[in-house]
Amino acid sequence: MTPIRVGLLGLGVVGGGTWTILERNREEIARRAGREIHVTCAAVRPQDLEKAAAKTGGRITLYTDPMQVVQNPEVDIVAELMGGIHPALELVLEAIAQGKHVVTANKALLALQGNDIFKAARTRGVMIGFEAAVAGGIPIIKALREGLTANRIEWIAGIINGTSNFILTNMRDRGESFASALSQAQALGYAEADPTFDIEGIDAAHKLTIMAAIAFGIPMQFERAYTEGISRLTAQDIQYAQEFGYRIKLLGITRRTPRGIELRVHPTLIPEKRLIANVDGVMNAVLVKGDAVGTTLYYGAGAGAEPTGSAVIADLVDMTRMASAEPGHHVPHLSFQHDQMHDDQVMPVSEIESSYYLRMSAVDRPGVLAEVTRILADLGISIEAMLQREPPAGEQRVDVIMLTHSTLERHIDQAIAQIEALQSIAGPVTRIRMESLSA
Ligand code: HSE
Repeated sequence: MTPIRVGLLGLGVVGGGTWTILERNREEIARRAGREIHVTCAAVRPQDLEKAAAKTGGRITLYTDPMQVVQNPEVDIVAELMGGIHPALELVLEAIAQGKHVVTANKALLALQGNDIFKAARTRGVMIGFEAAVAGGIPIIKALREGLTANRIEWIAGIINGTSNFILTNMRDRGESFASALSQAQALGYAEADPTFDIEGIDAAHKLTIMAAIAFGIPMQFERAYTEGISRLTAQDIQYAQEFGYRIKLLGITRRTPRGIELRVHPTLIPEKRLIANVDGVMNAVLVKGDAVGTTLYYGAGAGAEPTGSAVIADLVDMTRMASAEPGHHVPHLSFQHDQMHDDQVMPVSEIESSYYLRMSAVDRPGVLAEVTRILADLGISIEAMLQREPPAGEQRVDVIMLTHSTLERHIDQAIAQIEALQSIAGPVTRIRMESLSA
């Protein structure tokens, strides 16, 4: 069989990793795919031409105009590994128009433009592979799209941004500053070009949007996702959470409820005994709850050259195996047949139900706690645990931390507004959502 021909858009961290693995495991991969997978050309930035030529030993054609890869008759599959929305969107749409299959690691592109991209691909009868877009090397797309098709998926909760997990781990274990942990993650090639995507939860929300679409058979609804990052978390809250037996992780959570779909990324207290609470450093993990299988956990490297290259190649192999199949026999992009998608809406975060960690600074005098608990009781919010610290010598204020039972977010919003208005409470109340993640 003649080799299948791949054109790479980008030969940086992910493109470079893809190249390295294809070189090292060429034979093994061909034995699985049924044909050899040949990279015939790549597009790189002008300043990277020399480095790219050295990496590829002058054996492939290098272009600085990515359109030359996309329109190249020597290319069957375009691998878009450059990131960003423009010109990635135009290049992907052109590749589809040319009848080429597309592999992409671009989670932002799919979360924002996926509905249009999949529609165009379906019309043209080509495949879009995006395993590398979510949780790097973890085959979570394959698991959701194929391995778990028997299940009604109930919820997914994941640590799906390695950079923020690395920062949280280093802040907790080494007492490192936020800034120093971030620059280390950047030096290791884990962070996005714009690190606010990592620390403000946007990158995680892109990935979560994609997983929710596959899990529930709904369109991408990134614009409805609730996104809160880790930049306002304090070492103090991490410490208090530990005293209650919890870890704080940046979690992406999507859940099907009778009132709609939850789609939210935020720092979350999780019991330290859960396996996922012990996923540290740059590693990712995704918990999926299906009605038949129960809770399953997927763990691995969520970023980096070879882990992400591994996911790119998994898609290249799938496409190679299916290259001669009728389009109707392709695995549907979002697992559900396209005419069987539902339009369930993502709910506003005020409508979710959760438990909460609340920290407030209170004047140390009789009756203050009674005022706070009265507000909570009037809103039907039940307190699960409470901690009050003896004030340091000479201090008038004490930290009071409360964990609540599950309640509506809008009730907690009301409670916080009323507590903050009390004369005996100084400054804002810190609120962090909690999840038990029990089976
Ligand atoms: N910036 C991402 C992360 C890379 O830190 O997880 C993989 O998408």
